[in-house]
Amino acid sequence: MSEKLSFEPPRGMRDFYPEDMVWRNKVFGAMRESAARYGFEPYDSCVVESYELLARKAGEEVGEQIYHFFDKSERHIALRAEMTPTLARMVAQRQKELAFPLKWTTIAQCFRYERMTKGRKREHYQWNCDIIGEKSILAEVEVLGCACDALKRMGLKAEDFKVHVSSRKFLGELLEASGIGSAKHAQVFLALDKRGKMPDPEIAAMLKDGGLSDDEVKATFAIMDTKDCSQSPELAELFRLAELAGFADCLQFDIGVIRGLSYYTGIVFECFDTKGEFRAIFGGGRYDNLLTTIGGEPTSAVGLGFGDVVVTELLKARLGGNAAKEKAGVAVGFMFDAEADAAVKLAARLRAEGEQVDMALKPQKPKKFFSHADQSGAAKAVFLGPDDVAKGVARLKDLATREEREIAL
Ligand code: HAM
Repeated sequence: MSEKLSFEPPRGMRDFYPEDMVWRNKVFGAMRESAARYGFEPYDSCVVESYELLARKAGEEVGEQIYHFFDKSERHIALRAEMTPTLARMVAQRQKELAFPLKWTTIAQCFRYERMTKGRKREHYQWNCDIIGEKSILAEVEVLGCACDALKRMGLKAEDFKVHVSSRKFLGELLEASGIGSAKHAQVFLALDKRGKMPDPEIAAMLKDGGLSDDEVKATFAIMDTKDCSQSPELAELFRLAELAGFADCLQFDIGVIRGLSYYTGIVFECFDTKGEFRAIFGGGRYDNLLTTIGGEPTSAVGLGFGDVVVTELLKARLGGNAAKEKAGVAVGFMFDAEADAAVKLAARLRAEGEQVDMALKPQKPKKFFSHADQSGAAKAVFLGPDDVAKGVARLKDLATREEREIAL
């Protein structure tokens, strides 16, 4: 007995039909071009990692979202939820040989067992750009400049998005000044990261669980109203350099940016659409201790993760659903079987000349051929009838302008 299977992919996973690939290629293309423009070198790795490397400290959401299983030899295996632990492992493995600072980039498919909401899937592609082994704030400037460049390359304007920037070091100093010691900061950061996603009384309860008194909880909420970052030399320097690099209009200070991952130690940032309709477009920051936690040498690093899901939704909303499709190539068709050979030869010649050719696979009426060519995304079309073959001359039609030009067969 045969049962009809569901045609849906597993929940949270995506299929990419050709019309989806058009968007994916546009987004990935901009990411790759910007990374190259900013001097990042591509690297890659397998989506399967050892669970041990990815297992997280209690309290971090990603830890609970990891897909993991035992292989047939009882190895505890996991699908990566992000690229950063893998990057740390790869760098630690060759730490003696590598010439620092490294500027590395990748587009990595990542898996998280997320609660499904708008912009969050259980699988996504995440563009990563990391600079490893450089303490200078110029590393932050390069990483942020590169991400803003990619958003503009995809067709967005500076007014469509804002990168919200803060510093865990600065927030730590403000907490310290209110008598909240550094031992409590990790818990405070994890609780504050939930602001906006959870009601404040629940955050207050989390802070109390983290060992804060009522007064300290009150002081913490007061700190979260800080609007001025001029007391932080590193934030001031970041904004000054961004001005020189020409993307300061894409940045704004926001003490509320904390980040949900505990490895960040300094500048942290998250990018949002200015209308506030979508989830975070990208996020990242400075992480100084990740290599040492896996046994590597102390190394300062800064990087970002930029998913494909939210940005594609945002681009469709701002540019229109058809904006990714570019007209390209030549459609070649023919009227009767007798013209098939000439069409095959013409297609081969055009391809040899570097054209993309979509060759008809059977004879067609001209109307049908041209309407298909219009829809399929070809920029030009040539249709061979008996007269064309007899004369040895065909007409190459520009589908946008309707202009025709004669070509010899
Ligand atoms: P993250 O904030 O967890 O950071 O993720 C970075 C970005 O990946 C998010 O802003 C979002 O665009 C995308 N993303 C994450 N989870 C999902 C999901 N379930 N569905 C769709 N998109 C998602 C990190 O992962 C850090 N490792 C980034 C980093 C690199 N920090 C330093 N270097």
